[in-house]
Amino acid sequence: LYLKYIKISLLYGLFFLHNLYLWQYIIAKKLLVLTVATEETDGFLRFMQAANYFNYNVTVLGMGEAWKGGDVGRSIGGGQKIRLLKEAMEALADQEDLVVLSVDSYDLIFAGGPEEILRKFQQENHKVLFAAEGLIWPDKQLADKYPSVRSGKRYLNSGGIIGYAPYINKLVSQWNLHDNDDDQLFYTKIYLDPLQRETLNMTLDHKCQIFQNLNGAVDEVLLKFGTDRVRVRNTVYDTLPVVVHGNGNTKMYLNYLANYVPNAWNYEHGCSHCDDNVVDLSQLKEFPNVVVGVFIEQPTPFLPEFFQRLLTLDYPKDKLRLFVHNSEVYHEKHIQAFWEENRDVFNSFMVVGPEENLSQGEARNMGMDVCRKDATCEYYFSIDSDVMLNNRQTLKLLIEQNRKIIGPLVTRHGKLWSNFWGALSLDGYYARSEDYVDIVQRKRMGVWNIPYMAHVYLVKGSVLRNELKERKYFVLEKLDPDMAFCRNARELTSHREKDSPSPESFHMLKPPKGVFMYITNRHDFGRLISTANYNISHYNSDLWQIFENPVDWKEKYINQNYTRIFTENYLEEPCPDVFWFPVLSEKACDELVEEMEHYGSWSGGKHEDKRISGGYETVPTDDIHMKQIGFDKEWLHFIREFISPVTLKVFSGYYTKGYAVMNFVVKYTPGRQAYLRPHHDSSTFTINIALNNKDTDFQGGGCRFHRYNCSIESPRKGWSFMHPGRLTHLHEGLPTTNGTRYIAVSFIDP
Ligand SMILES: *[C@@H]1O[C@H](CO)[C@@H](O)[C@H](O)[C@H]1NC(C)=O
Ligand SMILES: *[C@@H]1O[C@H](CO)[C@@H](O)[C@H](O)[C@H]1NC(C)=O
Ligand SMILES: *[C@@H]1O[C@H](CO)[C@@H](O)[C@H](O)[C@H]1NC(C)=O
Ligand SMILES: *[C@@H]1O[C@H](CO)[C@@H](O)[C@H](O)[C@H]1NC(C)=O
Ligand SMILES: *[C@@H]1O[C@H](CO)[C@@H](O)[C@H](O)[C@H]1NC(C)=O
Ligand SMILES: *[C@@H]1O[C@H](CO)[C@@H](O)[C@H](O)[C@H]1NC(C)=O
Ligand SMILES: *[C@@H]1O[C@H](CO)[C@@H](O)[C@H](O)[C@H]1NC(C)=O
Repeated sequence: LYLKYIKISLLYGLFFLHNLYLWQYIIAKKLLVLTVATEETDGFLRFMQAANYFNYNVTVLGMGEAWKGGDVGRSIGGGQKIRLLKEAMEALADQEDLVVLSVDSYDLIFAGGPEEILRKFQQENHKVLFAAEGLIWPDKQLADKYPSVRSGKRYLNSGGIIGYAPYINKLVSQWNLHDNDDDQLFYTKIYLDPLQRETLNMTLDHKCQIFQNLNGAVDEVLLKFGTDRVRVRNTVYDTLPVVVHGNGNTKMYLNYLANYVPNAWNYEHGCSHCDDNVVDLSQLKEFPNVVVGVFIEQPTPFLPEFFQRLLTLDYPKDKLRLFVHNSEVYHEKHIQAFWEENRDVFNSFMVVGPEENLSQGEARNMGMDVCRKDATCEYYFSIDSDVMLNNRQTLKLLIEQNRKIIGPLVTRHGKLWSNFWGALSLDGYYARSEDYVDIVQRKRMGVWNIPYMAHVYLVKGSVLRNELKERKYFVLEKLDPDMAFCRNARELTSHREKDSPSPESFHMLKPPKGVFMYITNRHDFGRLISTANYNISHYNSDLWQIFENPVDWKEKYINQNYTRIFTENYLEEPCPDVFWFPVLSEKACDELVEEMEHYGSWSGGKHEDKRISGGYETVPTDDIHMKQIGFDKEWLHFIREFISPVTLKVFSGYYTKGYAVMNFVVKYTPGRQAYLRPHHDSSTFTINIALNNKDTDFQGGGCRFHRYNCSIESPRKGWSFMHPGRLTHLHEGLPTTNGTRYIAVSFIDP
């Protein structure tokens, strides 16, 4: 008996497989997709990509026709779609075994193939099946007329219809209205007529077996990752819809889903379309012309370094035209310095300064216009002064990616702050998408369609002269300029709406022509610096940025060879227990000296000293304390970050607290104080950093340690001594014979 059972089930299995195979073979040929599209928008191209991936047979109706199907936003319309469908169906009316799927295309993707659709359609056992949604539109009065459903979505949505060709024909042949009349109302009225519902054998896809409308249902769907494909799962009905429609104001959510579905990105293979249609710059005879818009809209630390990075971009400079908007008087000196050195490097160099009193939005409009108006401008590269690109290939990589609008991911160091948003809240501000953190941390790498980005991006010149040919995209209502631009790009046709649409009533009928915006995190491009707490009332204000922008501070002010102390034991011991190592950069030394000279109140080397407790200094120097220029907190932080590790290395087992009261810059010059007599320091250990160069800046100088009869007479700029303070290392400052010598000294752990 047991054996028999197995035999039977085996046979049955074979029979079933055989049938399934035949059935799929025959049926798959008989699905025809009809869609109406008047333009090849980004959304349309995405639709076709998914359709081709699954081998759908698609006929596009209306391409090149002007859209007449109604005005923007909430008004009704869409009749043009039915008119075109009606015309197309006349030729197909007698094909009884042909199944027609009529869908929108600008805001819709396929998550599965034609076989699956046909199977599910057959299971529904009706001749015509409409998409369903939980929101009723356009006529709420009709709600009572709908047949009740025990579970599932109750109302008709005309974004997706599937049915046998003769039945679809009977349905649409009833159309005798105008192009701007409402398509959904037309279908609704037919469906609500009990007689028609029966004769045309119509029903709705209540449980999203085939059609998933996202409007009002965003919370119902999740991504379901498979090994090759990614699907959308409806968690309420536990179904895997095949057609996903971003109707209403869910376009951005659809864009998010389409970053994965059907095969755009998955955990196994990563990004599968990232290398499609890329531009090979090495194959071009000439590099494209780029207008670079630089925006300095607030006091920004490290601006000279920002400009240097622009200069080191790997791109022919004669192909770059610079447009700089600077709204800060403080930065005029930096721009002037850069301009004087590099004005001939770039193809052109235009600066709009603070005297023009442009708003940020106006300035950004102006920069974009420079490219738009110049037919030879192929790309517009907009970059804000707070973007530190550390990838010299950035511009090339963005051009190669070949998108209409694309930005490189840049993030605040060590933070989740970045230059894009993965989702928007209902009122248009930041919302965190499920994948935001993974994208920022580059755990998922690819090219992502996102609703908002700022700070740095590349726009094709051709797009500025076509889709974005109107001007003033950066000024919209009271929005920040970047939010205005992104909203304009997303909703090219609907920005004239007065009130923002509510999800319930909003039903976009005019095809949204939105240009997709992408962010790429395929490479490490750089970081965003913080412009908060930038106090520009110092002489060299960047010196104070050690807390706010530690990475940039380190790059600018710490000696290049500092890390070699630890990796290669790059330090010396010129006298017993006197260690000598590189710590500050040339810039740090120069700026510190400038800062002190700018402050100017040198103590004069007097014994009476009000700055210290007791008011008396036995071995006085001509100096200025860090505290006097408001730099003591920053200096102590520097000691903890950069001196403590060296201390631990050379005096093993000694963990310094990095505490010091006496932190100062000493000036030795023959006219004032030229040397310092032998003394001990009130410290556990002392650091003594040379801030300028022997021979070029001064003669003489140096330090002599008496106990060892050992002198160091050629101090090196940026290098520090470190020696014990008060027992073994009695020392003196050797006379400076000419010029001025500066050193920075701290008595640590007094
Ligand atoms: C696509 O559909 C059209 C119209 O039914 C048909 O003529 C054509 O042969 C189909 N193409 C394929 C590849 O099945
Ligand atoms: C629709 O047609 C199927 C056969 O194709 C039939 O079984 C079903 O009863 C019909 N439904 C209605 C509501 O007429
Ligand atoms: C600059 O523009 C703002 C607003 O556009 C205006 O309030 C202000 O008076 C202008 N300042 C100057 C100096 O023109
Ligand atoms: C900015 O720096 C100046 C000069 O050191 C100081 O007087 C002022 O208090 C600082 N402002 C802030 C907000 O820290
Ligand atoms: C770092 O060391 C190398 C030689 O080892 C030297 O050429 C270079 O100038 C040093 N850099 C700095 C900033 O001192
Ligand atoms: C110290 O060293 C110098 C040479 O560097 C030598 O001439 C002198 O005699 C030494 N003095 C003592 C006290 O050892
Ligand atoms: C002192 O330095 C100046 C330049 O800084 C130089 O012209 C002069 O010759 C130097 N004097 C001596 C005695 O070296």
